[in-house]
Amino acid sequence: MYICETKEHLREVMSSFKAKGSVGLVPTMGYLHDGHMTLVRTAANENDAVVASIFVNPTQFGSQDDLEKYPRDMERDLMMLRDAGVAAVFTPTPEVMYHPDRQTIVETTDLANKLMGALRPGHFRGVATVVTKLFNLFQPDRAYFGEKDYQQLAVIRTMVRDLDIPVIIRGVPTVREADGLAMSSRNARLTEHARAAAPILWQSFQRAKELLVTGANAATLRQAIWDMIAQEPLARVESVDIQDAATLAPVDGPITSDIVILLAVTFDPVLLIDQCVFKVAKETS
Ligand code: PAF
Repeated sequence: MYICETKEHLREVMSSFKAKGSVGLVPTMGYLHDGHMTLVRTAANENDAVVASIFVNPTQFGSQDDLEKYPRDMERDLMMLRDAGVAAVFTPTPEVMYHPDRQTIVETTDLANKLMGALRPGHFRGVATVVTKLFNLFQPDRAYFGEKDYQQLAVIRTMVRDLDIPVIIRGVPTVREADGLAMSSRNARLTEHARAAAPILWQSFQRAKELLVTGANAATLRQAIWDMIAQEPLARVESVDIQDAATLAPVDGPITSDIVILLAVTFDPVLLIDQCVFKVAKETS
């Protein structure tokens, strides 16, 4: 496995891979878990070579503290990628990644500033900018992202569409622990008690499923989920959003098309996000 620390080395390695066949990119911020490895396995099934990046991107963090505390284990990550057959990994420092006088940003204006974007101002601008740079550097045929970060995936799809970036975006279903907690590098920062309490997010999706069968409307659903999670003393509910699964427009009344429920819950100081799509059966005539 090639480990590329500079853009020049990455470009050289990529041109030889691209001459031989298709390339799938898995961008990550490291501290890999089975969710990431599922992206790698999916990419391996669909491409001749899989490449990855490990870069804790400073521009998508709201605070220096959150950035510094983000878990890191480069050696273990590289071992996991090597064992999974990844052909090359890009591991830049912020100084390699960003020009000291950088002036250009990429922002999906509306989509970046609502929902999680309102909770974390600037976050999706940071994501869109770094992912654009990664696409330009790697020029992959396909790129793989987890559906857990539902809005991130929507931002990336929109940006690729609007900027005509020649890459196919694949969303891969969320991978969960046995108790339903969505896998995330942030889980490592939960205290033992918070870790035990965190599956409440998944349990609230099960409750939502029951309520949907009874014909609950969006407002009832939202309130029921909020109340259920808020009963957990270690959880602080930041947002419960019920949106159209395709457009991410808010859904207020009766639920007549597929919805996604987006959760943001803090187990101090760790912000967890999760999502679940609910398909609404269409009547056939
Ligand atoms: O989902 C992530 O790990 C990051 O947001 C990404 C896409 C690698 C960009 O830094």
